[in-house]
This record gives sequence, structure tokens and C-alpha cells, in this order.
Amino acid sequence: MPDLFDLVVVGGGVIGLSVAWRAAGRGLRVAVVDPAPATSRTAASYAAAGMLAPVSEVTYTEEPLLRLGLASLERWPAFAAELTRASGHDLDLRADGTLDVAFGSDDLAALDDLAAFTASLGLPAERLTGRECRRLEPMLAPSVRGGMLAGGDSWVDPRRVTAALLAALGRAGATLVPDRVTGLLTDSGAARGVRLAGGGGLSAGRVVLAAGAWSGSLEGMPPEVLPPVRPVKGQIMRLRSPEPVLGRCVRGAVHGSHVYLVPRGDGGLVLGATQEELGFDTRVTAGGLWELLRDARELVPGVTELEVTETIAGLRPGSPDNLPLVGPTIMPGLDLATGHHRGGVLLAPLTADLCANGDGADPVLADLAGLCSPLRFAGAAPPRPPGTGPVENTPREQR
Ligand code: GLY
Repeated sequence: MPDLFDLVVVGGGVIGLSVAWRAAGRGLRVAVVDPAPATSRTAASYAAAGMLAPVSEVTYTEEPLLRLGLASLERWPAFAAELTRASGHDLDLRADGTLDVAFGSDDLAALDDLAAFTASLGLPAERLTGRECRRLEPMLAPSVRGGMLAGGDSWVDPRRVTAALLAALGRAGATLVPDRVTGLLTDSGAARGVRLAGGGGLSAGRVVLAAGAWSGSLEGMPPEVLPPVRPVKGQIMRLRSPEPVLGRCVRGAVHGSHVYLVPRGDGGLVLGATQEELGFDTRVTAGGLWELLRDARELVPGVTELEVTETIAGLRPGSPDNLPLVGPTIMPGLDLATGHHRGGVLLAPLTADLCANGDGADPVLADLAGLCSPLRFAGAAPPRPPGTGPVENTPREQR
């Protein structure tokens, strides 16, 4: 019997849908399996603010991640334009840069270090005084001490992106299967499709696991191919104002605690995000929201006047080295596209291209693929199921 599909993607978040869309564009018969593609409330793609900010989010020791982020940011304008053409959806992609600001003298010292680091890497980032920051963003508090403008950083509305991907996949003839995967179909040790909770299965030449935070604990998968991916909770608030409060994305440190504010084209403002290691817990807590508001108000006092439209907690797919896992596993026919942690939206176009470059035809992509090969963890133990060991609660972004 011939395979029903060339490719089955497990997971309908921004990564899975992007991989599927690229493959459908290459003429492959594609299916995406997800009980709630693009709309699962606890998935990272649905909660995400949409910062495309490899420069302002750069940290020491994470230069490989920066390389991936810059390569994907470069792809975003063409990816967005193509997706808009294919779907008819506007993605609210903006490229006005990210302003990183400092509140206390300790934050300013950290910002100076970051500015020196970005300069040493030749990145496009400009150090600004507090007054220069307020000239760019008049709603910033007088107490903001200084900042750094990462002029190339951008942002996008992730919910528009996933809705557009679903529409484009439909137009490209891909199949969406609203079901849960309960295992792999295998033949002589190779993946040949997936089993479905609703009964039956889908045969395919290749399976890509792109199930975000759930990728490390998918039912029915051979333990040796389960990636060491764990959920990292992020709480987010969405606010609305009649007039735009900010012209660009603002990230800030308030005595070492980080917060970001991402404006939406419709007057919305997204505040994020906590970073908590609590397994699959997705409760929105008073403490989480209080921390977000406490720090956001120090930087932009006017936020407390705004209407709250949504509070949400999503689960990022964290990996042991903060790099994604993209590419073939030790099982023939089974690839991964997961572990994107804080950068799933940013890294979606690159991930889709990496998956499409399986033969290594593009040497630039092949080089980047080496950074995120799942084989670096081959033989690693799967992550400990939540609740079976000590819980580390890291309440805010500690990087
Ligand atoms: N990229 C921002 C976050 O994960 O909170």
C-alpha cells in the first residue's frame, strides 16, 4: 500500500504549521495532527507576544542561539509577505526595533555590559541615555536611566500568523486532522506514520514531531526518541488602550527582574512574561500578574490605566541548552522540530527551511542545522515527568 502522506506533522503550533506549509509548497502531501491547531490555550504559540528580537534577547554564552535567531529574523519579511499572499491575512509584522531600558543603577550596569557585548559581535544596537529613550517613547517613566535600541528587531502577532498558516495550508490542499497522536506506526524500526486516538492511523514517508512543550512526553513514542523537552510556564497579560501607548517593543529590567511590553496594531499591549518551572501547571496566578504589573508600571506608569482584556499562561518547550531540536532522530523517518523555548515565533521561518533542507543542499542551512541537531542528545534520558522530583520555581526571567 502506498503511504497516504509524504509528511505527517504532529502539532499545530507556529512551528508545526510552518514546517507543514513549507512542505505543502514543495508539492508534498501533508497532514497536520492536532486536537486544536493554532488555538490550544496552553500552547506557547497562542500565549506568545511575538517578539522577533534576537539582538535584545541575546545573552552571554548563547551565541549559537543568536546565530539561529538572526538567520530567522532575516527570513521573516519574505516569509510574512509570502504567507500574506497565500492566505490573504495581514500578520501585523512591525520592524521598528526593540528598546531595552534600565531602571536601577544595577540594571544600567547590566545594560552597559550587554551593549559592550552586542558591539563586540558587530550587532546593530545603539546605547541611549534616559532622555533619548523618552524622546523615542514619551510614555516611559522619568526614572528610566538609559537604554539600548536594537534597530533591526521586529515583532508580529502570533495568533494572526497561525491563523494565516491554517488558511494557507487549507488552500495548498494540506489535511488537518483534529485528533491526538497515540503512537507511531513503524516498519523494520523506521517511522511510517502515526496512530490516532480516534482510531486508525495515517501512513507517511516521514513524521515530524512538533508538539511544543508536550514533545518530551508524547504517548506511545519509543523512549529513545523522545526529546529532552520540558514545559516552561509563561504568564502574560493583554491590555487595551484607545491610543497606542508605545511605538515599539520595550523590554526592561527593574532591579534584575525582566518584563516586556509589545504593542499591537489595534491598540493592544501585551505584557510578559514569567518564566516558571512548574511542570504542566497553567494556572494564572495573582503573584505572576502582580510581578508583571509591578515592573511594567515602573517603566511605563500609564499601563495601570489600561483595560485588561486577557490573562493567560502558556508552556514554552524548553531544552537543556536553550537551543531547538530540529532534524532527524536516531529513528529513520522520524524528525523533530521542537524545543524552541522562548524563540518559537522568531525561529519558525528558519525551522521550516531547515526541515525542507533535509538533503543538505543549501550549505548555509546545513551549517545552522548542525547547531540544532537532535542527535546531540541521542541516548539522553527523557525529561523527568513533572511532579516526580524537586520543583524549581524560578518566578521571573532569570537569564
Ligand atoms: N520570547 C519571550 C518569552 O518567551 O517570554
